[in-house]
Amino acid sequence: PVGAQQWVPSEPRGIEQLKEAAAHCEGCELHVDATQTVFGRGAADASIVFVGEQPGDVEDQKGLPFVGPAGRLLREAVDDAGIDPTDVYITNAVKHFRFERRGERRIHQNPGPAHITACRPWLVAEFSLLQPRLVVILGATAGRALIGPSFRVTQQRGKLMPWPASAQHPADFPVAEIQALATIHPSAVLRADDRETAYRGLVDDLKIAADAVK
Ligand code: URA
Ligand code: SF4
Repeated sequence: PVGAQQWVPSEPRGIEQLKEAAAHCEGCELHVDATQTVFGRGAADASIVFVGEQPGDVEDQKGLPFVGPAGRLLREAVDDAGIDPTDVYITNAVKHFRFERRGERRIHQNPGPAHITACRPWLVAEFSLLQPRLVVILGATAGRALIGPSFRVTQQRGKLMPWPASAQHPADFPVAEIQALATIHPSAVLRADDRETAYRGLVDDLKIAADAVK
């Protein structure tokens, strides 16, 4: 893929302008079959930016991130962790839904490394406008996009990490004093055998995020 860079405005005035530009992105082939670009959403002065994987089926249809089942669970966990929901911006590492058709159904497929790399310029642009204090990495795809291929959610979750020292390409994230915290993806809670324990683990990690921006 050619990557998103040529669609990113060079000096964006705000998130709205980025979002409008991203609607036309053809940086990789995912735009062909997906309904629309699903850009990030939230407060322009958010302290915390959440980075998920990619939009799911519901998000693809509505054009908004985390509005399906995983999103509901994430909002509940944010609330239970004591994070102010108005102090949050939520986005994804990849901004188009990747899926496989099986008859009428659309089955979610993980984005590949090429999609993550192609879509990264949008994430970089969001970060440089938002200048968050803390980035919450939701699961393996976001971790690979932000930290690099060595990222392991099981080993790195629940610990505040310095930024950009931990990032793969620190130079392209023009953010000064920022921390990162990884946790499991809310979909992993929905899939877990022991949902209760998995949910409590997510909330415990997010409490560390809440304390970090107090
Ligand atoms: N899962 C994600 O990672 N992002 C969404 O927006 C929805 C589900
Ligand atoms: Fe562009 Fe990202 Fe969509 Fe690919 S997934 S077309 S890079 S917005």
